Amino acid sequence: MTYGCQMNVHESEKLAGILQEYGFCRADGAESADIIVFNTCCIRESAETRVLGNLGRVKSLKDGNPSLIIAVCGCMTQNPGAAERLKKRCPFVDIIFGTHNLHKLGDYLSDLESKKTRVEIWDGENGSVVEDVPIARAEGVNAWVNIMYGCDNFCSYCVVPYVRGRERSRDMSVIVAEVKELVSGGYKEITLLGQNVNSYGRDGNDKGTNFAALLEKLSALDGKFRIRFMTSHPKDLDENVIKTVAASDKVSDFIHLPAQSGSDRILGLMNRKYTAKEYLTKIETIKKYIPGAGLSTDIMVGFPSETEDDFAKTLGLVREARYNNAFTFIYSRRSGTAADKMDGQIPYEVKKERIMRLIDLQAEIGSALASECVGKTYEMLCDEYDPGQKTGRGKSDCGKTITFGTDADRRGGFVRVKVTGAKNTNLYAEACEE
Ligand code: 5AD
Ligand code: SF4
Repeated sequence: MTYGCQMNVHESEKLAGILQEYGFCRADGAESADIIVFNTCCIRESAETRVLGNLGRVKSLKDGNPSLIIAVCGCMTQNPGAAERLKKRCPFVDIIFGTHNLHKLGDYLSDLESKKTRVEIWDGENGSVVEDVPIARAEGVNAWVNIMYGCDNFCSYCVVPYVRGRERSRDMSVIVAEVKELVSGGYKEITLLGQNVNSYGRDGNDKGTNFAALLEKLSALDGKFRIRFMTSHPKDLDENVIKTVAASDKVSDFIHLPAQSGSDRILGLMNRKYTAKEYLTKIETIKKYIPGAGLSTDIMVGFPSETEDDFAKTLGLVREARYNNAFTFIYSRRSGTAADKMDGQIPYEVKKERIMRLIDLQAEIGSALASECVGKTYEMLCDEYDPGQKTGRGKSDCGKTITFGTDADRRGGFVRVKVTGAKNTNLYAEACEE
């Protein structure tokens, strides 16, 4: 059971790979499972509440089947004291492990056979990059590829640097070899993952290693496939990367660039290391080099001491940037972070009211941008087929989700489509004749 971001989705593919090597296969559901692994998230309180609620539910399964193994791993277990609290609150959990030792699940299972409950989390030592972990990838057109782990940014609201440790980049040659193999194996979309992909290689000794160089190397591989990446930090996304994205016919013209806020005072308190103006200049640069680029962002409302005026600046930034899509969050207090100790925590009702206004504004912008697409043609990668509706679905190169009519299952194919209609942010299209 996976909670949280794409990094966790991919790490669960590694956990599944280890389980398969150990002799397990995928169960139809929790009721028929011999082992349930919870790969957790703690970025917001709501994620933790969900995990605890679902753990409570599987307790009854374990009561009925004492040989059921329950393991909990991932970000939530890495919070100080969390593993001990979990052990006390959920004594039926057999294995608790962290973010740096996912690859050791097989060892923990072997230990269980000699009836030892394991609790092993990362102890703060800097982790290494572990290669050659088996991966049971989800079926489909997309394959996730980690390029780096951890984060050095310490945004004041965020637990990630504490639970995932310092930035560690994988060797470029290993990443290139993995992507090559995935493309020959039929994957049409490769999504590069890292908490801060633009600082890829900065921790290494190889001076030629940086994110733009990696994109160039991957773009030079043979075959028709698409490269996506997430997440970019605005302070690190440089012109060089933007030009590389523009020049490559493989790298998707889509950039997810979390802004978080439009108020310089709040951005300072958040330790984001850019101003709203600098952020918008980056957006301008993207639009200059990559006309038609798709843009998305993360925005947080209700950071400590955020005033109505600060929030108005966030709305202003969203209006100016014109995102196709925005992920919006209510600030959630995370213990151990700098923001948790800040004065001026905002009442929930105020945060709720602000996020509603933000969502309404973004919906307006998203629909306006979608209607501008009507009449235009795009190349899209089809990754879903509905035989009942006779429709295919997928994303254009610039990240727009498009549904088009087709009698054939065209999953895995690149299709040229002409947009015929838009409803809210959804685009409808017909396939162009070849
Ligand atoms: N509260 C709310 N949202 C958060 N995020 C990170 N930490 C918090 C928090 N404490 C959001 C940020 C980040 C996204 C992945 O999650 O917007 O970009
Ligand atoms: Fe968290 Fe900031 Fe790192 Fe993103 S860049 S993971 S928000 S600390």
